[in-house]
Amino acid sequence: MLYLKRLIRSAMLLSILAATTVYGAQTRDLIIDTDPGADDVVALLLALASPEELNVLAITTVAGNVRLDKTSRNARLAREWAGREDVPVYAGAPKPLVRTPIYAENIHGQEGLPGVTVHEPAKGLAEGDAVDYLINTLRKASPHSVTIAMLGPQTNLALALIQAPEITQGIKEVVVMGGAHFNGGNITPTAEFNLFADPHAAQVVLASGVKLTYVPLDVTHKILTSEQRLKQIEALNNGAGKLVKGILDEYVKADMVHYGLPGGPVHDASVIAWLLKPELFSGRQVNLVIDSRDGPTFGQTIADWYGTLGHDKNVFWVENGDAQGFFDLLSQRLARLK
Ligand code: RIB
Ligand code: CA
Repeated sequence: MLYLKRLIRSAMLLSILAATTVYGAQTRDLIIDTDPGADDVVALLLALASPEELNVLAITTVAGNVRLDKTSRNARLAREWAGREDVPVYAGAPKPLVRTPIYAENIHGQEGLPGVTVHEPAKGLAEGDAVDYLINTLRKASPHSVTIAMLGPQTNLALALIQAPEITQGIKEVVVMGGAHFNGGNITPTAEFNLFADPHAAQVVLASGVKLTYVPLDVTHKILTSEQRLKQIEALNNGAGKLVKGILDEYVKADMVHYGLPGGPVHDASVIAWLLKPELFSGRQVNLVIDSRDGPTFGQTIADWYGTLGHDKNVFWVENGDAQGFFDLLSQRLARLK
């Protein structure tokens, strides 16, 4: 019996070693919290096409770009398009902690997914609520083992932290698409949409003390589509390339007009690219505060980039990125899908 146990243990160790050796990095346990959303879907496809680096434990959905029923349907669609119906989707908060809900149908369309025809995915939602899933999973997780990619308003994680503060024990780090400092806002002159949609939730997450990285507009507005980059994706000649080309063709139009840019950002996919190839990006540890006072700075993120106030540097703020490197990575991973 002892011999058998030793044999099983060495087989398990060998498989972990193989995974690490072949890919050079330990597979990261990941929960993706998201409000799909055009760029969220691109992020989900990128993540689900990268199983050797990202072990996606679950997708948890939140209201944001559109209402919860549609963000949850769109998460199930992305899972289906990626051929990853093994990953459960849990629906979470239908509204922010405090403020009145806002949505972005003007950008993402009524269905929350521009440029493609949506349908009811074959596989349904997992049983249970996303907040309960976060609490149960993070309570039981090995110490600091689970990464959370936050691609929408941070309401689900905030509710979980309020109900069960001890879940920080299971969190390795939280990587947030959100905020803006040098760039200015995209929903108001000072605020980025995800923060504006629920600044109180972002304050709860910030106050929890988890290891926190922000991927703000400061960097996503430097990683823009172009005709050549969209052609690069279309040339993949597969379903995923066609979907992403169709989505981005529509999605980037509003930003290109509003900012007078030659292309548009793919905000949420930049979070996944950071997890896959951090060497494509640069930034620094800063003190971050989030404004939730009513008025023109509601939802603003103030990143003390030069350390002027000498306060605690509680967030890693990503400020620059290799745009072509991002699109090469995205194309390379989408090529793996059908
Ligand atoms: O401001 C951009 C962010 O808000 C992205 O996550 C987009 O999907 C919306 O949620
Ligand atoms: Ca989003």
